[in-house]
Amino acid sequence: MKALFDTLHPGDRDWELAQAIDPTRLPEHIAIIMDGNGRWAERRLLPRVAGHKAGIGPVRSAVETCARLGVKALTLYAFSVENWKRPRHEVETLWRLLRYYLKQELPELQRNDVRLQAIGRLEALPAAVRGELESAVEATANNRGLLVNLAINYGGRAEIVDAVNAVLEMARLEGSLGTLKMDEDLIATNLYTASCPDPDLLIRTSGEMRISNFLLWQIAYAELYVTETLWPDFTRTDLLEAVVAYQKRERRYGGLRADPPADRILIPALGPS
Ligand code: IPE
Ligand code: IPE
Ligand code: MG
Repeated sequence: MKALFDTLHPGDRDWELAQAIDPTRLPEHIAIIMDGNGRWAERRLLPRVAGHKAGIGPVRSAVETCARLGVKALTLYAFSVENWKRPRHEVETLWRLLRYYLKQELPELQRNDVRLQAIGRLEALPAAVRGELESAVEATANNRGLLVNLAINYGGRAEIVDAVNAVLEMARLEGSLGTLKMDEDLIATNLYTASCPDPDLLIRTSGEMRISNFLLWQIAYAELYVTETLWPDFTRTDLLEAVVAYQKRERRYGGLRADPPADRILIPALGPS
């Protein structure tokens, strides 16, 4: 977290928020559904693609803030398998902006020691986009700081299907298909995100109370945080507020509160026997 304080000014809002964060209980993995670009543009009477363009700055800021905070992984939902339903011009602009982002941001990603990974059905992407992605992934492969998963042509159901098919294929090659028994570990270790822990905190901007096919398996016990802020308006302050809110939650994983304060333990009074 020291790296974050290096960029803050004592007394201002972000500094106060950072002071309120307990560095020993940071979310290890934050996932963000970056939603609301279209509405941001429409409210300004601009074409929807202007909202996507305005969404690049907040990506840069979220990556830098997570890297400085000391979060281990950040997964950003950039394009869903369902987003192909949008007008061709919008989809093409998204590819153009992604390529621009990758080219523009590579030096900054390197400076922040960020390792980039792309998750999703990447084989369906235009060749130029795939090429740009592959070279950015390769260029940052040896970095050891924040892992950024860019979810592109990503679907949570598709990911589970791909994991199951990978398990089946492995068993077929090993000749153990007949005795294969599926279990949670087999699926989890074949997900696109197998290399990082499940998200602790899932943020969705623009107020929509839905998951939209994002990380369906991995968010089983994620804390959900929905903000009305539209993605192009999402700042470091919003991210720090989400982390502060996350640290106020009580995670029980189906069990009971781990450590009830002594004054709340009720000892039943023993009556005369
Ligand atoms: C999210 O913003 C970006 C992508 C899905 C690529 P939207 O484009 O969904 O914005 P709204 O929801 O229409 O405002
Ligand atoms: C989810 O947003 C996908 C991304 C942010 C990339 P959408 O805007 O596509 O989701 P819906 O259609 O509102 O559920
Ligand atoms: Mg949307």
